[in-house]
This record gives sequence, C-alpha cells and structure tokens, in this order.
Amino acid sequence: MSLTLPENFKEHYRTLSKTKSDDFNNIDIEEFFTYCGLPLRKALRYNTLKYSGTNGKEIFINETKKQKWIIEPVQWCDNGYFIDRKEEAKSIAIGTTIPHVLGGIYLQEASSMMPVTALFHGHENTDFSTMCIGDLAASPGSKSTQIAEKMQGKGILLTNELSSTRLKALYSNLERCGVSNSLLTHYDAENLCNLLPNTFDFLLLDAPCTGEGTVRKNFKALENWSPDDAITMANLQKKLIVSAFTALKNGGELVYSTCTLGDAENRDVVNYLRETFPNQVEIISLENLFDGADKAITHEGYLQIWPQIFDSEGFFVAKIRKNQNQETEQTVMQNILNTQDSKQIEKNLKKFPFQKATRKQEKTITDILHTQWGCTLPRTFELWTRGEKIKEWWAFPKGIEHFVSKIKVDRIGVKIGELHTKGWKTVYEFCSAFGNICTKNTIEITEEQVKKVYAGENLHFENVQKKETKKTTEIMLLYKKFPVAIGKMTITGNNGKWKNQLPRVLLRKLQ
Ligand SMILES: C[S@@+](CC[C@H](N)C(=O)[O-])C[C@H]1O[C@@H](n2cnc3c(N)ncnc32)[C@H](O)[C@@H]1O
Repeated sequence: MSLTLPENFKEHYRTLSKTKSDDFNNIDIEEFFTYCGLPLRKALRYNTLKYSGTNGKEIFINETKKQKWIIEPVQWCDNGYFIDRKEEAKSIAIGTTIPHVLGGIYLQEASSMMPVTALFHGHENTDFSTMCIGDLAASPGSKSTQIAEKMQGKGILLTNELSSTRLKALYSNLERCGVSNSLLTHYDAENLCNLLPNTFDFLLLDAPCTGEGTVRKNFKALENWSPDDAITMANLQKKLIVSAFTALKNGGELVYSTCTLGDAENRDVVNYLRETFPNQVEIISLENLFDGADKAITHEGYLQIWPQIFDSEGFFVAKIRKNQNQETEQTVMQNILNTQDSKQIEKNLKKFPFQKATRKQEKTITDILHTQWGCTLPRTFELWTRGEKIKEWWAFPKGIEHFVSKIKVDRIGVKIGELHTKGWKTVYEFCSAFGNICTKNTIEITEEQVKKVYAGENLHFENVQKKETKKTTEIMLLYKKFPVAIGKMTITGNNGKWKNQLPRVLLRKLQ
C-alpha cells in the first residue's frame, strides 16, 4: 500500500515553507512528503532495569545475535537501537519473543526516545533518591519505562493517564519492565497538576496531539487532516503546559513533546507558556543533546524532527526550566492554600487503605524476604500493608504520603506478597521487580522451559536436593538471570514438581 497525502496537507506545508522560510532553513518540503510515504525503521530499547549491571549491554547484544536481529545504535539514546531482522526471523512477532515478554526490551520508535534523553541531559550524575519525576500523559508507557531506567528504582515516578483503557496497558508495561517506584494515577493532567503545585523536580508532558509525525507508521493518520484540528488540540495543550509548569518546583525542569509537526501544537504552545510566565520560563537549548542535534534545532533551541532528518517519525521536543519569581511564588502559595484544605487532606489520608509497617512487622517481613529469597529491599522503599485476614505486603517508594493526602492514586510501588494463616506467599510482581536481587531458592531454566511456563504448564525437575526440612518451598525460575515466575516446588525423593503460579493474564504462546 502506498501513501497519498491529502492535498490540503501538502498545500498547507508548501505555503508555510515559503511564508516562514526562516523556520524551514535546509528543509526540503517535497523531501518531507516523500519520507512520509517511506516505511519506518523499527527500534527498541533494551531495559537496563532487567539487563542490569556492567555486562547488561553485552548480554543484550548476545541475545540479539541469537534472535537473528540486526541492530544499529540510535545516536540519542544509550540503550536504543534500530532493529532489522534476518529473513528467517521476520515472521516472528518481536512481542512474542522471550526478551520482550520478560521485560528485557521495549519496542519504541527512535525519535520518541528523544524527550526522555532531553529530560535527563545534564543530570547524568544526579541522585534521584529524594526526587519526584512525573510523566503526565503516559500510556502506553514507553517514556515512563525509559524514565524508570534512569531513576533505577530511586525516588518517585508519578505516571498519569486519562484514558482508563490505556491505563491498563500502562500498568502492564510497568510491571513487565520491573518498574518498582511508580505511582499510577488516572487524572486529567490539568486537574492533577492543579492539585500538586510546586511538587515535581522533573516533568514530562508528552502531550496528546494530532500525530502528523506518525504517518509513516500509520498511513491513516492524516486521512481526515484539517488545520482546525491542530487549533482545537493546541487549546488543550496550552492548558496542560501551564498547569504542568505550576506543578514544577522552582529550579525544576519540564520537557514538552509531541509527535506532530505544525507550529500551532509546538512552538506556539511553548511561546504561550513564555508569555504566561515571562520571568520564570527559561528555555534550555537542545542543540548539544547529541552529535547531529544541530540539524534539527530551531532558533529558539527546540528540536523539530522532520522525518527526513534522522529517517524517523516526526517529533517536537522543548526543554524548559522554571526559575524562581517572588510574585508568582505568592500566587502559587495562594493556590496551594486554596486547593489543599486541611480537612480534605485528613479525609484523604483516612481513606487510604494501607498502613505503614510497625518496626515489629517490618522485621517479620524483612526476615521472610531474607530467609526465602536472600534479598534485602533497597533503602528507598518502605513496607506498607492492607487487609485483615490475609495481609497484603507492599513495597512503596519513600515519600508517598505527600501524594496520597492530596490525590487518589490507582497503584503504588510493588506488591510483594501475602501473609495467610498458613504462611507466606510471594507474588509475581515481586519477581518481576526484585527478582534480580534474589540470591536464594532460584533455579535457572532453559528456553523450552520458559515457553512451558508461559503456556501455563507445571515443570518437573530431577535430582533436586532438598535443602530444608520443608516439603514444599517457593522457587523462582530464572532464564539467563531474568526472573520468569514463582511457584511452589514439592519434592518427593529427588524429584521436584514446580506448580506454576504465573498470573493467567500473562499466559501466551512464545516464539
Ligand atoms: C502521545 S500519547 C502518550 C504516549 C506516551 N507518553 C508514551 O511514550 O508511551 C498521549 C496520551 O495522553 C493521554 N491524554 C489525553 N488527554 C489527556 C489529559 N487531559 N490528561 C492526561 N492524559 C491525557 C492520551 O490518552 C494518550 O495516552
């Protein structure tokens, strides 16, 4: 199928390229139309939360050889690669391969990796332990999972999405990728930000947009294109960017990005923010973000990624710092007072169904994790519990009280297990998020065995040595050190039967 771009779209950009020729320096508009019709190169990130440690990259590269993937680095993302496949591997959907299912890789269009690179640029040695980073329009989670890699489980990652169906996809990607420090929320980002003034150290607003840059992936993206759509969308984007800015701490940084190309949704939106907060908005130029970024830089310091520049999707990225300003400071404080009525805060905290572990409870659970898995949770987490008969235990990143007193949170951190009258049961989420720091009761399995686990089968092991007097014990299966699943192993003589407890929603046929 070949692409026929709408005539009004072409005419619109041809006219702009003449009337705003300064903005179209070195941009051949006919070449842009040609690239819109070319197939898009696939790209992925290997997940440094799973391919962790100093040899993570090497293990990933070896895996790509096994999968018959041909990879080429993406200049602007250390762990991003364009991917092609040898003929014999082309019929296999990457989403059904073991590296993908176990959270080792995330399929993400290359230019979409740029906003997060921009967000962390200049902060390579920052310790995020006490910081809060927000992703305001987050589903399906390509950028949230990329942010989580940079944070390496430290601090709080608030990841928000308005659409309830897309919220599920976001959660499932966070779980698959082993993200442990997230707070998942379900708000209109404008309302969310208004409830959390002066809160975030870093924010990403990857705004909803008309998606002109996505036409190479989705030929239908421009089918009913009209310049009026951009105007409607820009009204929403302006509200979102202003509220995002008020939710930033002084000195905090915001990246605004879209996968569209027109000025109305891009530089006009950032300019609107500049006009709204003239003394506080500082644009940080992205000219030196990576070698070659200057090819896409605008005179303001934004990146305007036309598809032909890096043979990618079209994208726009701007980075903004919030500087201190006494006057607005007062307005913000007034907003805080208006929105945070202390009774409401008390009410919200009362409604929160979790309790923080007492010292004694903390010791009990810490001992269980140590004895069962040889694992100590990182210090940036705290144990919280809920439930009476069956007590659920969760690891939450430190500092969540600030959020749960002000907003409704859908999910926090990682559920680690349940304490029943009969004993302890560890859950899958723990395996995905903390399996790589477990040193006891783990067994390495083969590729064939991973496929069986994902088909819902139990596994049988021979020559199993019973180390403890207990007849059944929880065992975590690993594949090349990647946590796969937890199940109960029953040992009879030297034979072990491992009972599969992988959540049913995860079962699928792997290739
Ligand atoms: C460009 S997509 C985000 C892609 C995502 N950042 C990623 O990299 O995977 C924009 C998202 O914003 C959501 N959205 C739309 N309006 C919103 C609003 N007012 N508040 C929060 N999210 C919104 C859409 O449902 C959509 O999932």
